[in-house]
Amino acid sequence: MIYLDNAATTLCKPPQVEKAMLDALRTAGNPGRGAHEPTLHASRLVYAAREAVAELLHAPDPSCIAFAANATEALNIALAGLLAPGDHVITTVCEHNSVLRPLYRLEEQGAELSFTPVDEKARLQYDQWEKLLRPNTRALVVTGASNVTGNGTDLQKAAQFAHRHGLLFVVDGAQTAGAQTMDVQQLGVDVLCFTGHKALLGPQGTGGLYLRPGLSVAPLLVGGSGVHSFDRHHPTQMPTALEAGTLNVPGLAGLCAGVQWLLEQDVRQLAQREAELAALFYGQVQDIPAVKVYGDMTMIPRAPIVSLNIGTEDSARVADILWEEYGICVRAGAHCAPRMHQALGTEAQGVVRFSFSHFNTEEDALCAAKAVRELAQEI
Ligand code: ALA
Repeated sequence: MIYLDNAATTLCKPPQVEKAMLDALRTAGNPGRGAHEPTLHASRLVYAAREAVAELLHAPDPSCIAFAANATEALNIALAGLLAPGDHVITTVCEHNSVLRPLYRLEEQGAELSFTPVDEKARLQYDQWEKLLRPNTRALVVTGASNVTGNGTDLQKAAQFAHRHGLLFVVDGAQTAGAQTMDVQQLGVDVLCFTGHKALLGPQGTGGLYLRPGLSVAPLLVGGSGVHSFDRHHPTQMPTALEAGTLNVPGLAGLCAGVQWLLEQDVRQLAQREAELAALFYGQVQDIPAVKVYGDMTMIPRAPIVSLNIGTEDSARVADILWEEYGICVRAGAHCAPRMHQALGTEAQGVVRFSFSHFNTEEDALCAAKAVRELAQEI
């Protein structure tokens, strides 16, 4: 099997992740709910995960990191907790439904939305931002990179625009956290939402958000916190404010191991390796007459994604053949990013997405390219 669906979830993790999860399953009590050794141990595991994520993102303090089940939950917390009816939000057509659907719900409640368009290579048209501004614009919400084309967002430019106009700057880091270096303080990010199971190399069911100190988010969930039990209101201090209920301690132990592994490596080098694998694959398929590749492969930064179609063949059929006949795992279809596909004109066909990890080999990239070449001749 050749696994090239790393943008959906990374399958190959450092062995420490599995071990940490198993250890936690066997030894962790409920964090913050007592003073016996298993509960203290669980609290330490969660704190270590918070510390590791904070270090990777260059957050000023581990308490700026609140954990959630995934990036979708984190984005729901951030968007519902920061925005209100009457607010105007500038976002982009590159966004995933994890951004779009919470924003549409806010729109139904009276918020207003504007979408930054892209050009024919799916590059964001940053010059539109000034024109989209309104007196009630409150936030700029952008993905770090498109999960369809891999095109990266110029976060420096985005930050400057947001800061110049006093907007909240919210970043969906689902495709970029752990895959690119990130300094939330230097960039002036207000909220960065992340998932644990992609480039952070943790398990599914983990994720969270970085919240700039001083920024207050109304919690989506309230309930058990282990502290102030007689208070009718959920505690407001971070991270407890955004973490009602028992945390996924085995998952967070795994996430911690994944992030600690990343901290021992050089994220720049890992990103470089992924970029080289994507470029190797792209170099082999870009001149096949029937193949159309989407996005701008020269863009820096970009996620290690190459999305393509073969003629007019349905992307799901191509993905099925790749799996059935070649043992290659890719993701076809709409990738939960409808506006991106509308912009590309691929709503009906979808695209076949090849997404690389630094754990992939050159041989993986070359085998996948050979398969595409063969299919392009047959189809
Ligand atoms: N958001 C994930 C993807 O792009 C699941 O495949």
